[in-house]
Amino acid sequence: MSAIENAKVAVIGAGAVGASTAYALLIRGAARQVALYDVNTAKVDAEVLDLAHGALFTGASTIAGGSDISVVAGAQVVVITAGAAQRPGQTRLDLIGTNARILETLLPQLLEVAPDAVYIVVSNPCDVLTSLAVAQTGLPPQRLFASGTVLDTSRLRWRLSQRTGVTPSSVHAHIVGEHGDSEFPLWSSARIGPVPILDWQPEDGGRLTLDELEDIASDVRNAAYTVIQGKGATNYAIGLSATRIVEAVLRDEHAILPVSTVLSDFHGMDGVALSVPSVVSASGATAIRETSFDERELASLRASAAALADIEEQLRG
Ligand code: 2OP
Repeated sequence: MSAIENAKVAVIGAGAVGASTAYALLIRGAARQVALYDVNTAKVDAEVLDLAHGALFTGASTIAGGSDISVVAGAQVVVITAGAAQRPGQTRLDLIGTNARILETLLPQLLEVAPDAVYIVVSNPCDVLTSLAVAQTGLPPQRLFASGTVLDTSRLRWRLSQRTGVTPSSVHAHIVGEHGDSEFPLWSSARIGPVPILDWQPEDGGRLTLDELEDIASDVRNAAYTVIQGKGATNYAIGLSATRIVEAVLRDEHAILPVSTVLSDFHGMDGVALSVPSVVSASGATAIRETSFDERELASLRASAAALADIEEQLRG
């Protein structure tokens, strides 16, 4: 039996993001068992029932869950989506007070029933929450990390795909740093297939310019605000992003994804969780130290680190 076939993934939180993550896990056949947990019994039971009603169409993947933490028992991967979501006009960092308290309460319960799992923090602000969770639990940073800018990178590749006519999986560009307002693209290493991005000749003949690329990066940075303004939350793309990360863990893929880990000795940065290209496998996530940054990008990474360190300082009082 392959790892996928007998694997169990638990999703914590049955709100829009948690339910969409469970749905994505099922339709992509990412795990044999998907468990959905939430303290709100009526809500989680209804989400599980609604998902289970699609059983005819989700192959060997099954859904179960409830409001008893025992539903998480034995999970190889735990995806944490619990907490308040951004409302229009709020930043992700605005959620830190509420969501830090929720996570602080949840973690001991989760470790009780899934002590050996790989933990993926999706709740926002995911970088700071990850740093706090590593400090609270003492888990190795490799095994407790955040979805980070995997979603933002998908947004960037979708926009560049639209502009260049090349499928997103052949657009090699990353958003790194905070999953939030200080995130930025690694243009210096961005390529369309084998071609450096500024050398790419789109079919319409008009070469990409740095100004145009910066406009695209700005749209990506503000994408969540746009969606939240219109529909109140984002859920599908983050559910798919979380599922992609789970697949890389369960298949032991050693896939390169920009997840957020607590960095150590990374271009002189220590102890802060930020997204950089990382190898994701069955043992978790490891930042790729050899990632190249030009001067400007390194300054942006340090600015991202400083912004998050400030928030953590304020929290610790
Ligand atoms: C997003 O970027 C809100 O962090 C969530 O869609």
